[in-house]
Amino acid sequence: TPAPAFKIHTLQLHATQRVSVFGWVHQFRQQGAKLAFVVLRDGTGFLQCVLGAPMIQSVDFPKISREASVRMVGTLRLEARAPGGVELAVDYWELIGTSAPDLETKANADSLPDQLLNNRHIVIRGETSSSVLRMRSRMLFELRKFFFERHFEEVTCPTIVQTQCEGGSTLFPLTYYGEPAYLTQSSQLYLETVIPALGDVFTVMPSYRAEKSLTRRHLAEYTHFEAEMPFISFENLLQTLEDMICTVVERMLTQYHDEIHLLNPEIALPPRPFLRMTYADAIRWLQEHEVWKEPETKTPYTYGDDIPEKPERFMVDTIGRPIFMTRFPLAIKAFYMKKCPDNPIETESVDVLMPGIGEIVGGSMRNHDLEDLIRQYQANGIPPEKYYWYIDQRKYGTCPHGGFGLGVERLICWLLKQEHIRTACLYPRYMGRATP
Ligand code: 4AD
Ligand code: MG
Repeated sequence: TPAPAFKIHTLQLHATQRVSVFGWVHQFRQQGAKLAFVVLRDGTGFLQCVLGAPMIQSVDFPKISREASVRMVGTLRLEARAPGGVELAVDYWELIGTSAPDLETKANADSLPDQLLNNRHIVIRGETSSSVLRMRSRMLFELRKFFFERHFEEVTCPTIVQTQCEGGSTLFPLTYYGEPAYLTQSSQLYLETVIPALGDVFTVMPSYRAEKSLTRRHLAEYTHFEAEMPFISFENLLQTLEDMICTVVERMLTQYHDEIHLLNPEIALPPRPFLRMTYADAIRWLQEHEVWKEPETKTPYTYGDDIPEKPERFMVDTIGRPIFMTRFPLAIKAFYMKKCPDNPIETESVDVLMPGIGEIVGGSMRNHDLEDLIRQYQANGIPPEKYYWYIDQRKYGTCPHGGFGLGVERLICWLLKQEHIRTACLYPRYMGRATP
């Protein structure tokens, strides 16, 4: 009899029905000549299938092996010990695609990191990796939902650009029909031009950074969730960031409690309000805790120094809760940042630091004064000609505005306790790797 085809995650609703399910053999276990168990995976869940003697006697049976694709047909029954609470008593099955025997040599529990990454197209079929990818998908949905609920519009920005946003040292140059161009570092400048057209906006685009160091939180290509808002204050920006992080994390924990806890047993909602700390206070904190810039000579960090990844991590790990680090000096920040009205050597800027990972967000109010912006281009040695469209935003109806960029993989690392950013994305790109 023909049986309707179902996705595994819906099967609980159909217990005792006869169903058909397509999927891949996740696990395979034979008990003698009369009984075999197949755990079937279809991307939405896992289904235990029980095959009795008549099913095992099929000519195709020896070709069932891990990762073969099959169709299983049978009757569902409630089984508390099975994943998903149901089990399939198979009365008919079909082999769709065999799985070659060298599978086990491609990646296994003893594989070195590089072998796992070379075979990531196989590794992602595993329970942990597929769970991370699924939670990532749901988290992107929740991020989008948060902003759509607040009437933001989503835009898609070009990634081939002729301007820099975050400093020349991490630009990827390319030749674009004979002209110099780059892969984008951030969609921020484009978002700023869209606010007079659409108001509050956000984008989810890849950003590229030619990072020359290999760290556990840097990629050469990452997913950048960026938003821009007209007519706001710095305080509004901080509030939006806190709301976004807390709402998205809370909704994720409510809906996917069990799946997230498997990956991250210690996960808890971040306490509100986030701790606020100025850059100047952070420098003092490092001095007081004897975190040296040069340990051999016990040289302390001083005002004006960039705070690198290690001391930043040490500070937020010690404090143990999310931090808004604010008011970075203009001298170490990008040309577009707005100066603090009460102290023009500092900027209305913020980094969100999370324990275990450090910076996950960078944001600021933007310099919306036409003449001052031109001065900032000069101060940074950037010829302003290529930025005429960005400058025009100040020329035709300028307004106070601000926004931020969230590193999606970094938030994943925090939420799902991924030790390394390379497992927080599908196919990581970093110095030395562009495959698969
Ligand atoms: O702090 P960044 O460089 O800020 C900007 O790009 C702004 N233009 C964003 C904006 O205001 N619209 O980058 C923002 C975030 C960082 O906080 C970090 O989470 C992430 O992007 N990020 C990276 N993630 C992975 N690999 C890298 N190499 C990253 N560089 C930045
Ligand atoms: Mg930053």
